[in-house]
Amino acid sequence: MALRVNWPYPGIVAHRGGGALAPENTLGAIRLGASMGFKGVEFDVMLAGDGTPVVIHDETVDRTTNGRGAVPEMSYAELSQLSIEGNERIPTFEDAGRLCRELGVWANVEIKPAKGHERATGEAVARMAREQWLGAPLAPVLSSFSVEALAGARSVAPGVPRGYLVDRIPADWRETMRRLGCIALHCNYKSLTEKLADEIHGDGYAIVLWTVNEPEIARQMLAFGADCLVTDALDRIGADFR
Ligand code: G3P
Ligand code: MG
Repeated sequence: MALRVNWPYPGIVAHRGGGALAPENTLGAIRLGASMGFKGVEFDVMLAGDGTPVVIHDETVDRTTNGRGAVPEMSYAELSQLSIEGNERIPTFEDAGRLCRELGVWANVEIKPAKGHERATGEAVARMAREQWLGAPLAPVLSSFSVEALAGARSVAPGVPRGYLVDRIPADWRETMRRLGCIALHCNYKSLTEKLADEIHGDGYAIVLWTVNEPEIARQMLAFGADCLVTDALDRIGADFR
């Protein structure tokens, strides 16, 4: 019998906005997820060269836009000129956050710092999250692979919830989560076992799994007690998947 912890957020979340069905990390992707009934969305936030938090996954714009260059070396004015699959643009975190609140969609904001900008990114994202979601019904959860970014986030906005993002679950997960004041462990579903799930829940932490794209695996993970699944397969693992 899986243990339960407090998880007031949605149980199924669209990865990078609209999963595989829309250009990643765009406003259009967030709109698509919401139009399909998704109540939660994950997206990645990095700092542009002028310090503007922008929604993008890679440290360069090469893969996802019609431009070339490194995000931390470009201003937001430059980034905003680029096209993503035709008519989408790189959104600011501010715009993505506003859209989520307008649509009533919960945000799992992944702090995705460019190398060397970990602390500054964590601080900037957390500061903006605290200001933007002030008074909103559901706070975002800020997650990151970077413990430095999470420490920065905690220092400026301790009240905005944090998630510790990992690929493999490290032996010292407890200590790190306690030190960073995290509420959830966000891990690759491949590294979760039923025993580990019970241990994580036993310590009072929620479990968020990425990226679960097969309904059969999703069912198994929910049976382990996972609180939230992040998916690219919006058409096969819908918002109400059980
Ligand atoms: O937050 C879960 C997931 O997004 C982490 O991996 O590379 O897709 O950002 P990635
Ligand atoms: Mg991500």
